[in-house]
Amino acid sequence: MLRPRALTEPARRGLTIARQRRFWTRRAAAWEHTADSTPGLGKVIETVIDVADPAPGDTIVDLGCGSGQLSIPLAQRGASVVAVDVSPAMTEMLESNAAEAEVEGVEPVTAPIEDLDLRPGSADAVVSNYALHHLRDEDKAAVVEQAARWLRPGGRLVIGDMMFGRGGDARDRQIIFAKVSALARRGPGGWWRIAKNAARYLTRTQERPVSIKAWTKMLERAGFRQVEARSVVSEAAVVSGVRPPGEVTRS
Ligand SMILES: C[S@@+](CC[C@H](N)C(=O)[O-])C[C@H]1O[C@@H](n2cnc3c(N)ncnc32)[C@H](O)[C@@H]1O
Repeated sequence: MLRPRALTEPARRGLTIARQRRFWTRRAAAWEHTADSTPGLGKVIETVIDVADPAPGDTIVDLGCGSGQLSIPLAQRGASVVAVDVSPAMTEMLESNAAEAEVEGVEPVTAPIEDLDLRPGSADAVVSNYALHHLRDEDKAAVVEQAARWLRPGGRLVIGDMMFGRGGDARDRQIIFAKVSALARRGPGGWWRIAKNAARYLTRTQERPVSIKAWTKMLERAGFRQVEARSVVSEAAVVSGVRPPGEVTRS
């Protein structure tokens, strides 16, 4: 019997990136609406900005920038923002949103986070909101290590995201139960979403969240200091760390 040939690692990586590009190009306008109308998400964005604590003139890299939910407020505080997103629809919307808000200092970069190559020590902060759970786990760890290189000593990595595991602790179970109950209350449409989300979650093709503990360990392993985690609302948390002076050494 003919067996399908296993995909090579670069092919698997390429497929994941292409899927994200397609998905978010279709969903760009819908996401902007969700982001604007979801107060919980606004709280996560505020927390990421507070923790990043931007100063005028800072260079900040926003990973998975969408249509500017973090990049525009950061630029309004005087930062120069390198805004990276895999979806051209998102970076186009970001450009028009920045122009509409009369904000300068946002440089859109249409590229996968996984391929980003920046000058070592060139960033004052690296931030991300609700994007890194789309990366495969090995790519999350690689990006955290890269961020340690891109940051100047004393620079900060701040990640806001859905952070929960697969039911291994009480917080995970509470989040999963709350999500399923909220959808179930919507009737047949909600039941369909439960089935769809469960399939995505189990196959880890679209969303691959990991726990606060897993993120904390990734930052510590990449050599970050002062690693801190804050639970913000329901599933969302913010994990941050500071790049120490001198060479970054993995623990
Ligand atoms: C849920 S949206 C969040 C957007 C924005 N950061 C916010 O706070 O609203 C996720 C974003 O991550 C981007 N994304 C997903 N995978 C990516 C990848 N591998 N490289 C770059 N961007 C990616 C998507 O295109 C999308 O714009």
